[in-house]
Amino acid sequence: MEELKRKAAYKAVKEIRDGMIVGLGTGSTTKYAILKLGEMVKNGLDVVGIATSLESERIAREAGIKVADINDYESIDVTIDGADQVDNNLNLIKGGGGALLREKIVASCSKREIIVVDESKIVSSFSFPLPVEVVKFGWKRTAEKLAKLNLKPHIRHGFVTDNGNYILDCEYDKLENVEEMEAEINNLPGVVENGLFIGLTSEVIVGKKDGIEIMRKK
Ligand code: 5RP
Repeated sequence: MEELKRKAAYKAVKEIRDGMIVGLGTGSTTKYAILKLGEMVKNGLDVVGIATSLESERIAREAGIKVADINDYESIDVTIDGADQVDNNLNLIKGGGGALLREKIVASCSKREIIVVDESKIVSSFSFPLPVEVVKFGWKRTAEKLAKLNLKPHIRHGFVTDNGNYILDCEYDKLENVEEMEAEINNLPGVVENGLFIGLTSEVIVGKKDGIEIMRKK
């Protein structure tokens, strides 16, 4: 599995050019991309990274990549990020690592969002528990509201996001009408963001046992 993740990540970094502002995703697959980018920087590539988590910022800085504040850049040229599941429309579930809020902000400011995954993440319908970031105040009441949307929320024990919030991992029987679902969840008081990434992906690079597949937006 690690080899498939690495393959996808290395393919993605080939898209990075001198002078680019690069969004740095979070997770074990993206880590391969950040480390490779660090090697390229040591060989003279000049880029500025925008990190989607404190962990990615730390990995990037250690690898020698300049990391800047997203407030200082109006847009990001390319972001490389991972996903927990990808459907046939290139919609995603993200947030397994708990970084979904910053990841979604960065994705929404990126001209190109490249997702890197191994082949096990490609699905015809979502099944991965949907992470929802909620403020600490009244989180049990927010969980009750999520349950009314036919979700079964479970607090992620012992976890606080980089933004000081909790994550509720929501199981479900079937996740339908994902566009409406994304908006409905975010409309609940107490919800900060949810892990449905709808229409944000430009392409998905899939590391497979027999090579690499690139899924593009139709
Ligand atoms: C973090 C994420 C990650 O991109 C997602 O969890 C995939 O991680 P990995 O590459 O380790 O499987 O959304 O919030």
